[in-house]
Amino acid sequence: MNAQIGSKIPAFEALLSPAEENRLSWMMEIIERNRFLPAPAPENVFVGDGDYRAIGVEYLGHLVRIGGLKPSDRVLDIGCGIGRMAVPLTQFLDESTGCYEGVDPVKEGITWCTQNITPVYPRFRFCQIDLAHELYNRGGSLAGHEVVLPFSDASFDFIFMVSVATHLPADEIEAYSREAMRLLAPGGRLFMTAFLILDGDLERDGARPKFIAGRESGTWYGDPSAPLAAIGFERNLIEQAIHGEGLRIQRVSLGHWRGTDSTHYQDIIVATKPGKAT
Ligand SMILES: C[S@@+](CC[C@H](N)C(=O)[O-])C[C@H]1O[C@@H](n2cnc3c(N)ncnc32)[C@H](O)[C@@H]1O
Repeated sequence: MNAQIGSKIPAFEALLSPAEENRLSWMMEIIERNRFLPAPAPENVFVGDGDYRAIGVEYLGHLVRIGGLKPSDRVLDIGCGIGRMAVPLTQFLDESTGCYEGVDPVKEGITWCTQNITPVYPRFRFCQIDLAHELYNRGGSLAGHEVVLPFSDASFDFIFMVSVATHLPADEIEAYSREAMRLLAPGGRLFMTAFLILDGDLERDGARPKFIAGRESGTWYGDPSAPLAAIGFERNLIEQAIHGEGLRIQRVSLGHWRGTDSTHYQDIIVATKPGKAT
């Protein structure tokens, strides 16, 4: 199924068979209860409120069920923070074929990951990229819209950005769509969460955040005094950024931030790089 720009968002079929779904649910329960997995001190978790382990496990479910993540995938986590997504993935990715790279501008997050995850799981590696961000890395030396990540072309099967595009201006989302197109192998997938503003979203009572029109057309801020604390985009703006770089949007799953029912809070977009996986 290929959801074209602006087309009606279709309901999509489950990617997992009932047996695969049972196995995944069982694995998620075990990971959530595993006391031996690393976790940073709560006061050092700078990536948002909520239960660090539970949110990571929840997203493992979305990456697999909605994104089609496979244990054998070579994975890139853009904006990996302090390893919230990486920790559950250590239990899911195959030890000999799967691998993981995480990048983030915040040094403290990368240091914690390299000290606490890589020594036990050497196929999980982390790298700080000194990108400037008004909230996360004020003095950063690199401009986000010029980002070029230190990996070779076509070296990943699965790239994800969880709760990252919700903090970036549109030109940086474009830059990452370009990088995803370069870094994915043919048939590879980009999984990105975002706040997509659709007709009616801004009037709904239960919506959280309550977005207010931003400076640039098609952008919406949760808090005008800190635009990148939560930024939403008219759906076409994000879809065009992704399509414009050559990726094809495969599915869009709407989140419950807008006050409607969903298994997840932010919207999820899954796009593929054209071509056949080898
Ligand atoms: C809300 S946190 C989410 C972190 C992680 N994805 C998670 O869900 O645990 C947003 C992350 O985006 C990172 N970030 C900010 N600007 C970035 C950029 N230009 N490129 C990549 N990551 C960025 C921040 O440092 C922060 O770790």
